[in-house]
Amino acid sequence: MSRPYSGNSMFEFPNSPDEVLKALTENDYLSDEGLATVVFLSLTMQRPLFLEGDAGVGKTELAKALASWTDSELIRLQCYEGIDSSQALYEWDYTRQLLHLRSAEASGRAQTEIEVVEDELYSERFLVRRPLLRAIDPAPGKRPVLLIDEIDRADDEFEAFLLEILSDHTVTIPELGTIGGAVTPIVVVTSNRTRDVHDALKRRCLYHWVNHPELEREIEIIRLKVPDVSNRLARQIALAVGSLRGQGLYKPPGVAETIDWSTAIGKLGQETLNEETIRLSLGTVLKYREDQNRVAEQGIEMIMAAVENE
Ligand SMILES: Nc1ncnc2c1ncn2[C@@H]1O[C@H](COP(=O)(O)OP(=O)(O)OP(=O)(O)O)[C@@H](O)[C@H]1O
Ligand SMILES: [Mg+2]
Repeated sequence: MSRPYSGNSMFEFPNSPDEVLKALTENDYLSDEGLATVVFLSLTMQRPLFLEGDAGVGKTELAKALASWTDSELIRLQCYEGIDSSQALYEWDYTRQLLHLRSAEASGRAQTEIEVVEDELYSERFLVRRPLLRAIDPAPGKRPVLLIDEIDRADDEFEAFLLEILSDHTVTIPELGTIGGAVTPIVVVTSNRTRDVHDALKRRCLYHWVNHPELEREIEIIRLKVPDVSNRLARQIALAVGSLRGQGLYKPPGVAETIDWSTAIGKLGQETLNEETIRLSLGTVLKYREDQNRVAEQGIEMIMAAVENE
């Protein structure tokens, strides 16, 4: 039996996917065997985990659960179009550098002293550490969880830059030298697949497509996140969501919507699902007008059939 994880980098890795499944459950994340296995492998092989899947299936939440389990800091890099190394890795704090220089000049110091001050400008003191640098150069003895969220939103150049960091976990800052490399962070990369991520990046990672949960697991997730909802209602909602996912909608509901819907139905004081309640609460589960119209026209009957046929 291995010791429990801790933020300390000297922790022991889990011994089996089962151990991972159990630990994630204890941290409020209900995984299936496939995901637990790939998490186990990514931890023990010390390789980044690349998660793809529809919106709201629990990709980001997995990184949070991992951080909570390993008692580590969660360092999140949210990607977006145009993100570059100064936002992801480091930059110099120009304003403070300028103030530092000005105050040295104003104090009427000799030229040689000013030169010393100039040298100080490119020291740790004026370095702004962004998420990637914090992850590859954490406090001694710490192994953080680095979440690179929604990589598909970033540009190609940024991906190429990430490749280098993910390969050797070091960075060379011209003024300071090489930083990092002492500890391999636990890395989770997520994508909603709005575009394909390059093979070179994928090759560095272990890959898993996160599916919508199957019925029993989704019921468990509802029971966990919305404990006020009865077992029966949780089952009905999970069946209803399953039916919606089969209706060819533009945005099928994810687990996030299932949780919202369950909360909403609970707040409406309903103990079972009926057509009227579904109609009234559709806005918590479908966020596109076309999807709502479509379901309001024929979908509700399909939902009720799925719920009643169980
Ligand atoms: N397996 C799970 N166990 C427990 N909660 C879950 C699980 N999957 C999803 N959730 C819940 O669903 C919500 C949405 O999950 P999350 O934000 O991780 O989705 P995502 O895949 O990152 O979506 P997006 O692509 O929109 O960012 C969270 O509030 C989380 O609590
Ligand atoms: Mg997410």
